[in-house]
Amino acid sequence: MEVTNKLKNLVERVESGINRWMPPADTRPARLHAAMRYSLEAGGKRLRPVLVLAVAELDVQAGKPDALPAAVAIECLHTYSLIHDDLPCMDDDDLRRGRPTLHREFDEATALLAGDALLTHAFGLLAEAYADRPVLAHALIAELARTAGSQRLIGGQMEDLLGEAKGNATPADLEYIHLNKTAAMIETALVMGGLLLDWPEQPLKCLRQIGRDLGLAFQIVDDILDVTADSATLGKTTGKDEATEKTTYVRLHGLAASRALAETRTRSAVATLQQLPGDTSFLEDLMTSMAARIH
Ligand code: IPE
Ligand code: IPE
Ligand code: MG
Ligand code: MG
Ligand code: MG
Repeated sequence: MEVTNKLKNLVERVESGINRWMPPADTRPARLHAAMRYSLEAGGKRLRPVLVLAVAELDVQAGKPDALPAAVAIECLHTYSLIHDDLPCMDDDDLRRGRPTLHREFDEATALLAGDALLTHAFGLLAEAYADRPVLAHALIAELARTAGSQRLIGGQMEDLLGEAKGNATPADLEYIHLNKTAAMIETALVMGGLLLDWPEQPLKCLRQIGRDLGLAFQIVDDILDVTADSATLGKTTGKDEATEKTTYVRLHGLAASRALAETRTRSAVATLQQLPGDTSFLEDLMTSMAARIH
């Protein structure tokens, strides 16, 4: 119960941060700003920004920087990746976060531009909100840029699409895709929390390891839910991965092995979590609840 309240509280903080740091919907050009807010305000689990805030709370010392702009920045970047992921030239989806996808509600060009603007806004927000702490601003921007770039998020998305055409992806291809299109952003959310605390290399390494395991578990769960859940519950169209012959855990390993692997990765993430200082019980419960979505 306490965890649910805590999660609710953090999600509310993220949403108030989004409202504060995004231009109002009627800012010129209103169609673009309304589109950016349409996707951002549709909800979603807010996992990545909640991870930033939860790690930043592991050490509550006076004078620590506000973690909220960093949390909003990563949610902007994530939301842009979803908008582009849904475009007809990519996964061609009609439903996202329980609403018509942005290109269905508006049009393709607006969806493309709203994604571009959210991506750019993420870096602008980090630069401006942490301008009085240039070392931190640099570290956050470099971390997010590496993760969002061609060898991680975009690289994973590229190989995800290439895999559709190829049809004979190997388990190593699958791991490349999942590590980069999904685990990278989850890892970076945790690491940004650590950077906000000015943690040294060792706990940052732990955060990376947790992110890798949690991120892989998260994408395995996403792949399983695409097969087992219904669109109304998930807020996005299910059954698409099979129809488009995506390289997924379920396709390569089957449902039972995928479930087992999601559990193993989650347990491993939780075990590494114990090496971090502070009260990690909320993070443990949050990670466990992500894997429990397949039960
Ligand atoms: C969807 O991410 C894309 C994947 C990496 C699987 P989420 O499942 O976190 O989507 P939202 O933010 O809750 O809508
Ligand atoms: C998308 O993976 C990951 C990113 C958006 C980077 P999916 O294509 O499986 O995500 P969903 O299922 O559409 O949310
Ligand atoms: Mg995709
Ligand atoms: Mg998709
Ligand atoms: Mg999916």
